[in-house]
Amino acid sequence: MYKFVIKGGTKLDGETYVSGSKNASLPILAATIISGKTSKLYNVPEIEDVKTTLKILEELGCKVKKDKNKVIINSKDMNKTKISDELMRKLRSSVIIAGAIIARFKEVQFSYPGGCDIGARPIDLHLKNFRKIGIKIDENTSYIDCKCDKIDTKIIDLDFPSVGATENLILATVLGNHEITITNAAMEPEIVDLANFLNRMGAKVWGAGTNTIKIKGVQTLKEASYTIMPDRIEAGTLLIAAAMTKGRIKLNKVNPEHISPLLHKLVECGCRIIEDRNCIYLYADKNLVSTEIKTMPYPGFPTDLQPLFSTFLTTCKGTSIVTENIFENRFKFMQEIKRMGGKVNIEGKTLIIKGGKKLHGADVESTDLRGGAALVLAGLTAKGITKVDNVKYILRGYENLDKKLNSLGAKITREEKEG
Ligand code: UD1
Repeated sequence: MYKFVIKGGTKLDGETYVSGSKNASLPILAATIISGKTSKLYNVPEIEDVKTTLKILEELGCKVKKDKNKVIINSKDMNKTKISDELMRKLRSSVIIAGAIIARFKEVQFSYPGGCDIGARPIDLHLKNFRKIGIKIDENTSYIDCKCDKIDTKIIDLDFPSVGATENLILATVLGNHEITITNAAMEPEIVDLANFLNRMGAKVWGAGTNTIKIKGVQTLKEASYTIMPDRIEAGTLLIAAAMTKGRIKLNKVNPEHISPLLHKLVECGCRIIEDRNCIYLYADKNLVSTEIKTMPYPGFPTDLQPLFSTFLTTCKGTSIVTENIFENRFKFMQEIKRMGGKVNIEGKTLIIKGGKKLHGADVESTDLRGGAALVLAGLTAKGITKVDNVKYILRGYENLDKKLNSLGAKITREEKEG
């Protein structure tokens, strides 16, 4: 493993592109289990979370062929229904593989998922929904044991529009004779991508992208090819990086609509943004100013961009207020930003940032995926050298972040760690 060593102070300038979405790839990879046939996926990002998901699929008996961003999965000979504890613990979205397995085999055994430490992240909503549609769950052993004879026709009103719980419920209910209506469903674009892929295989899923989703069970699914949507969080990360360094970039392969709350906030802070069909131009002003953000489910400001945008706000003149409404532990990385000279105060779910003071380089440690990326961005604008340790978190969700930033003029090298 290595550290990122960042020499701060260069303005980002140039053109780059957005890779395929992590959060769309993971449920779509899970969905390939259901058909028992071959699925060809394009634009799958080469990141650690995808590698772990592919390992889970292989362990379950799927055949996986991978050539850069193209992945072919044949789930015909899949013969296991138990996800190993070791792989379950590696990522949060392992839990939605359970929904796909139960759809095909009517049973699944799995343990509690792991993932980044950004809050408690329970799976109570997932299990509650499973029970409501007739799945019997035994939690009395080290594995959660789920079985069902048939899925019941139901209207399921989610207590909270959880992304993962919505996806799990869709995956679990695509096969059968029932009709399911999900109300208060999550509306994230990744759910639309999942529904589009399932429908491409012959499923009947309507309303994804709205808060009411309907699923009519079908008897079988067929082979399908699908191109994963662009990663809106990576897009946001690259735009924020350019804004922080007072640079200017053209970002290709992006859907501007998916990140409109971020674009509005960047404009409020003083950036000039031009949107085109699949690209965004950003020109940052020298004198950026503070603002307020509140994270919310889509179409609100995404929690995944909060750490990056909060870090950006440390460089904007004035006092900014950030309210984190989704994950209670998402300001943890700010301890590292403080080591770089950031003037921030955490009061419960509110972060108060006294911005405009230049950050200085320091040795810092990633504590989670987006917080880790935020430290890299801080390093780009800081005076001197910043070393970011625990890069493993960043590699979980970014395809070549250092290389993409370097192609825009950043100075990031990889330093091998001793031992
Ligand atoms: C997904 C994303 C993640 C993003 C998050 C919110 C993936 C792989 N990950 O995570 O990047 O930050 O959406 O946009 O797509 N909750 C419960 N009980 C549950 C499930 C969730 O209390 O059973 C709570 C969570 O603790 C959190 C909130 O609901 O406070 C939102 O979580 P959720 O939308 O489920 O996030 P994930 O699907 O885990």
